[in-house]
Amino acid sequence: MNADTPRPPSISELAELRLSRRTAMAGGLATAAAAFFGVPASAGAVGVAESTGSAGSPGHGAGRPLLGFPAVAPSTADAVVLPPGYRYQVLYPWGHPIVPSGPAFAEDASNTAADQAQQAGDHHDGMWFFPLRDRRSGLLCVNHEATTENLLHADGRASWSSEKTAKSMAAHGVSVIQVEQDRDGGWLVAESRFARRVTMTTPIEITGPAAGHPLMRTGADPEGVRVLGTLNNCASGPTPWDTYLTCEETINKYFYYGEQPPPPGSVEERYGIGSESPYPWYTTESRFDMRSEPNEFNRFGWVVEVDPFDPESTPKKRTALGRMEHENAVVVRGRRGEAVVYMGDDTQFDYFYKFVGAEPIAQARRAGRSPLDEGTLYVARFDEDGRGRWLPLVHGEPGLTTADGFADQAEVLIHTRLAADAVGATPMDRPEWCTVQPRTGAVYFTCTNNTARTESVDAANPRLNNRFGHIMKIDENGNPSAVRFDWDIFLLAGDEASGATVPPDQAFGSPDGLWFDSVGRLWILTDGAQPQVDGADQNNQMLVADTERGDIRRFLVGPPRCEITGITAAPDGRSLFVNIQHPGDSGTPENPRASSNWPDYSPTGRPRSATIVITREDGGVVGA
Ligand code: FEO
Ligand code: CA
Ligand code: CA
Repeated sequence: MNADTPRPPSISELAELRLSRRTAMAGGLATAAAAFFGVPASAGAVGVAESTGSAGSPGHGAGRPLLGFPAVAPSTADAVVLPPGYRYQVLYPWGHPIVPSGPAFAEDASNTAADQAQQAGDHHDGMWFFPLRDRRSGLLCVNHEATTENLLHADGRASWSSEKTAKSMAAHGVSVIQVEQDRDGGWLVAESRFARRVTMTTPIEITGPAAGHPLMRTGADPEGVRVLGTLNNCASGPTPWDTYLTCEETINKYFYYGEQPPPPGSVEERYGIGSESPYPWYTTESRFDMRSEPNEFNRFGWVVEVDPFDPESTPKKRTALGRMEHENAVVVRGRRGEAVVYMGDDTQFDYFYKFVGAEPIAQARRAGRSPLDEGTLYVARFDEDGRGRWLPLVHGEPGLTTADGFADQAEVLIHTRLAADAVGATPMDRPEWCTVQPRTGAVYFTCTNNTARTESVDAANPRLNNRFGHIMKIDENGNPSAVRFDWDIFLLAGDEASGATVPPDQAFGSPDGLWFDSVGRLWILTDGAQPQVDGADQNNQMLVADTERGDIRRFLVGPPRCEITGITAAPDGRSLFVNIQHPGDSGTPENPRASSNWPDYSPTGRPRSATIVITREDGGVVGA
């Protein structure tokens, strides 16, 4: 830590902060975090492991611990490290054709843009496994968040061209592939009528309150209802009606504003637009140049719905869910059967959101309406006493009137961040993934880190220079449609010096991906700074927590410079799909293998983002 960096609070200060808040909480909301402080989980905890999961749930009989593997050590190896008795296969790396008859991957990166549009994109992120009838095969939807341009093209970013823009755009978006398990338990990508790529050139419909608004209209789309493509597809979420939500995150990187950055206080500044675009797309595609097409930017930053079971269907941007740097979207059913969607906005000091649909899912679908097009978007305020409130972002409410600069509800949604600023939401330490505990309905979400928090802390973001992040828990007491909630910090990540509440031998930093499996194991995937070992930086990792017993164990460590992200399982829990994103991304055209050569280890190849499948050698449930 630099001498001029504000020091984090000490462990005792944190404990005091938590204790004072806890004491103030009516009913004494007990949480699993207590277990990480050494308090037995049974001492007033919300529940105990016995009640987690239904009888016969894979891997979790009554009273048995959820975690049944020995933790692995931190690693700097150019490898995927797993516990003894586990193995993985590389299923779907960047450049793999979406069907076996598609264009083969060229390890010198000489595939064309047209090839790329029929192959796995780059930077695999959120994904979901939709079982087909036999349950040994399924449709796998995989997000491709971004690209490493230096590895995507044989000569990297040199001599930028329309062809390079086209290849880069084709490497973004979503893959829908059919995967099948053979008799030996291995998985393969199959020929399939469902296989397709959604890229930056796929026509996408704009739906919900912002569709057709003047701020959504462009020269190419004077009606503001149709846009080409989806980008920076970060994490994701399935819907109860078997569609796939893909979330547009770091949209600001792709648009060029001009040599001077936007003025302080402008909408563009609030949405992260600077004076540079690391993606040179604007040099060959004028829609990414805000000087000539200012509104194209407004058409990104949404949650996009894809129907994997209808390859002819047009994906939809669901504007009722707000516009931000969306991380993932978790859909549950509310009290009246309506869709409730939890979402984080991954930027320093941005917010956590919830959408509550206006009508029951079944009623909307019977009438041919989307359950995601009408409803109320809320943003979270975390009060110091452990309670919280969902603040509605509805035009006409105080702060959200025409006089306040919001002409109508569409503008509230297009400028969601400004609306959330206006109603007094709590600025958080970069909310990334959220997930819902299957038995209790509690919502957990990661605050990955925030080194820009140098001035002040609050109860929900208790560390200055929050280098390693924390995990939050929201309890709506069984009512996902509620406007009030209780909250607590589930854990503080990092090492002992940073005041972590995790055992030192399981130390980790920058929690990002977060997913409860069907029996309540909490999988934690990291992206960013990890606690050092003997002064050396460590690779990103994945851990599993039993939130009710307070157990946490490191399950996987990835290769250098990757992040671990994207996780889903086959219905039997015996095959776990995980994404390894951007391994070795410091590679250059001259030296593509500079920091990693995973997963091919070819002496003439290059590192590749990939979907892997993890299984147990004895065929058992992964993690159990
Ligand atoms: Fe795409 Fe915030 O991670
Ligand atoms: Ca992420
Ligand atoms: Ca991240």
